Amino acid sequence: MSVAEALAARRTCRSFTSEPLADGLLDHLLDRARRAPTAGNCQGVEFLVLEGPDSVAEFWHTTLPSEKRSVFPWPGLLLAPALVVPFGLPMHYLARYSEEDKVATGLGEGMGAWPVPYWLTDAAFAAMALQLLVIDEGLGCCFFGLFGNEIALRERFKVPESARSPGVVAIGHPEGQTVRPSNSTSRDRRPLAGVVHRGGW
Ligand SMILES: Cc1cc2nc3c(=O)[nH]c(=O)nc-3n(C[C@H](O)[C@H](O)[C@H](O)COP(=O)(O)O)c2cc1C
Repeated sequence: MSVAEALAARRTCRSFTSEPLADGLLDHLLDRARRAPTAGNCQGVEFLVLEGPDSVAEFWHTTLPSEKRSVFPWPGLLLAPALVVPFGLPMHYLARYSEEDKVATGLGEGMGAWPVPYWLTDAAFAAMALQLLVIDEGLGCCFFGLFGNEIALRERFKVPESARSPGVVAIGHPEGQTVRPSNSTSRDRRPLAGVVHRGGW
């Protein structure tokens, strides 16, 4: 599958079977996903990998209280056999941008100096690379936000306090119809002419 084919084939999958991923597959995909671009070659993205029923259940226990389960619109999402949470670690970026060739940027002075927090950019790039690799394997994936659960997740899984994540990639074997109707999925794709501004906005 070409990159163009993977991009065309990818749709957010919100319903999975509980079939586990092949042994070693996730490590193989993550090794490739971490080749995504990374600011200053910081390589400051690390992955919390929750694979298998017990780890995945612990994620949902931490982020989705049981009283909300019965009204959760995507119960099949909870069956995904693997969840990958890419975290960007600001300390790597602050250290790298304090080095001689980067110090003039002023970005080494603290997280507040960053107009764009590259640790989140890098983590999002890695998440996108991972999703395309998942599609290339004939599997399904869903990227979803952590909303207010990042702190609880960090505490539960001993993630460093400074780490920040753009969201979670759920991975597994799609169950039935990959795209189910919702307010998001029913939105038409905006026309190309509406999003491309040649020569100016
Ligand atoms: C930053 C971001 C956050 C998202 N959060 C959620 C989410 O919380 N729940 C969900 O079901 N989908 C989530 N999505 C998936 C989008 O709803 C989906 O990408 C969009 O509707 C377009 O559909 P497609 O991915 O099938 O092309 C998120 C996507 C992004 C990029």
